[in-house]
Amino acid sequence: MRIIRSIRGLQVWRRKHENQAIGFVPTMGALHEGHLSLIRQARKHCSTVVVSIFVNPLQFGPAEDFSKYPRPVKSDQQLCREAGVDLLFCPSSEEFYPQDFQTSVSVSGLSLRWEGVARPTHFDGVTTVVTKLLNLVRPNQAYFGQKDYQQLLVIKKFVEDLNIDTRIVRCSTIRESDGLALSSRNRYLSESQRRLATSLSAALRHGVQSIKSGKQHARIIQREMKEIATKLAGIDIEYLAICDANNLDPLTLAKGNMVLLGAARLGDIRLIDNMLVKAPKKF
Ligand code: PAF
Repeated sequence: MRIIRSIRGLQVWRRKHENQAIGFVPTMGALHEGHLSLIRQARKHCSTVVVSIFVNPLQFGPAEDFSKYPRPVKSDQQLCREAGVDLLFCPSSEEFYPQDFQTSVSVSGLSLRWEGVARPTHFDGVTTVVTKLLNLVRPNQAYFGQKDYQQLLVIKKFVEDLNIDTRIVRCSTIRESDGLALSSRNRYLSESQRRLATSLSAALRHGVQSIKSGKQHARIIQREMKEIATKLAGIDIEYLAICDANNLDPLTLAKGNMVLLGAARLGDIRLIDNMLVKAPKKF
């Protein structure tokens, strides 16, 4: 596995691989089974697999966990090697955003709702870093987890709007056996918070089952979901919503392809999760 840290080095590498089918998995490191499943999909579809590891300062708010975000450099490199990654790109902040960096990429509508309310600068940070990465790697396919569903839609939107010639591939969320969606931030959870954290996926699962069984009124389903999520003290729900899966508009009646979105706080740790569901035919 080749490791490149400079932009110039990556550009030279890319020119030498003009005819390859490139699969790209952008990450912030602290790799877990979720990331590895993205790499495996890239490995299956593409002749050359590129992974980036870059903890992107632009997507963290001033009070967020940028400085304490986990950076297990050696074990991440080892995992990439074992997963058959061809190229690992891991630039420094100074390399990626030189001092006079002045550009921002922004998706105006989709970025402002749900996660955008709690984290107003987050998606501009994501869209800016992913634009730069896609320009550099120029992959045929780039792989993103469904776990960050709003991020996935925001990325699809700017890729479409800016005519970037990369197919964005959605990969299923990987979960622990008790339902908790894998996330690099799960390692912050104390033992008692870890037990509570499953309430979020349990609430979403209830919502999915309710819709599948024919319930239609979003307000009623959302109330039941909230009851499940908050049955145990110590978890604060920020939102639990039934939305149109294509544009994240909140729905009053279940219909079409939906995504159930959830965000919760456990102390100062924030968790997000979501599940997709299709309305049954009789709706
Ligand atoms: O999902 C992530 O890990 C990050 O938001 C991403 C897409 C790598 C951009 O920094």
